[in-house]
Amino acid sequence: MKPIKAAGLLATMLLVGCAVTVNDRVLVGKDHVARWQEKLVIAHRGASGYLPEHTLAAKAMAYAQGAHFIEQDLVMSKDDHVVVLHDHYLDTVTDVHDVFPDRARADGRYYVVDFTLAELRQLAVSERFKVSGGVKAAVFESRFPLEKSSFRIATFAEEIELIQGLNQSTGRSVGIYPEIKSPAFHRGEGKDISAAVLEVLKTYGYDEQQDRVFLQCFDGNELQRIGRELLPAMNMTVPLVQLLGTGPEFRAALTPAGMKMVASYADGIGPSMQLIVERGSVAGKLKISKLVELAHDLGLVVHPYTFRRDLLPVYADDYDDLLKIFLDDIGVDGVFTDFPDLTVEYIESNL
Ligand code: G3P
Ligand code: CA
Repeated sequence: MKPIKAAGLLATMLLVGCAVTVNDRVLVGKDHVARWQEKLVIAHRGASGYLPEHTLAAKAMAYAQGAHFIEQDLVMSKDDHVVVLHDHYLDTVTDVHDVFPDRARADGRYYVVDFTLAELRQLAVSERFKVSGGVKAAVFESRFPLEKSSFRIATFAEEIELIQGLNQSTGRSVGIYPEIKSPAFHRGEGKDISAAVLEVLKTYGYDEQQDRVFLQCFDGNELQRIGRELLPAMNMTVPLVQLLGTGPEFRAALTPAGMKMVASYADGIGPSMQLIVERGSVAGKLKISKLVELAHDLGLVVHPYTFRRDLLPVYADDYDDLLKIFLDDIGVDGVFTDFPDLTVEYIESNL
């Protein structure tokens, strides 16, 4: 066994037996994860390498491929339903332009929050695309073809019912990994998306630390509000994950003091993989940041994004090599992936 992996295992064992306390708050991160599986495969928007992201078909496929958790990005409809879509826009994954041609805002975009659930249900969902000169082109050319078959937008509740139904019929216990999208935007539209998401979680029994759920958000202020105000007010204790991107707004959180601050309200981090293996890395000569070490020392779990067979960083020879670097050599606790099958296979064969 490699020294880094052995050290990671030892740290996990110590943390399981002795929860870490930061600013008088006991973290549940490592403890939470170690109960189920040492390395988590989190299906990023479902099995989105194979079927259009965030469709129930993509979620069912992710489930069948053995994902441990399935991700939901969440936004709100005009009539206050929480729906599963990556953006608060509709125009890059649906035919909204054809069905409701007059409903774009002045910026030319179609906003989910301007449509009722009944209207959203009229839209066909397709593989993510971009439009150039009036011509649609798939973002990932080799994935599911555009405008084929039939896919629809689902509510958060419907997706949970799918996963919980499969848990009953298979006897497995796959978890959910919801992300609150654009809380400030929703507030500007008069909607408290965090409260709405927590209501759904509570309705479906995800309200305690040991439940199979991680709640994630990029907005640190909102995550603090959830942790310090909304969860206690609703008598809930679900684990929180602070997402971290490469933009300047995340720089402070990457410092030792910043990460300690994150650990005062969150149980884990979800960083871009570029924050761990930095730009300028080449095969055999990786520039590995201190982020994972920093987070692990504070008891935070680390779940980087996004692992894709068809979009490899230059330093990785192939998808298995990428997984080896992050899961085995660096020792992250799980990965968000568009390819749950390949990731489960790697973990079962190598770890
Ligand atoms: O939530 C983890 C990862 O999904 C963050 O990126 O943009 O795909 O939501 P995004
Ligand atoms: Ca996400």
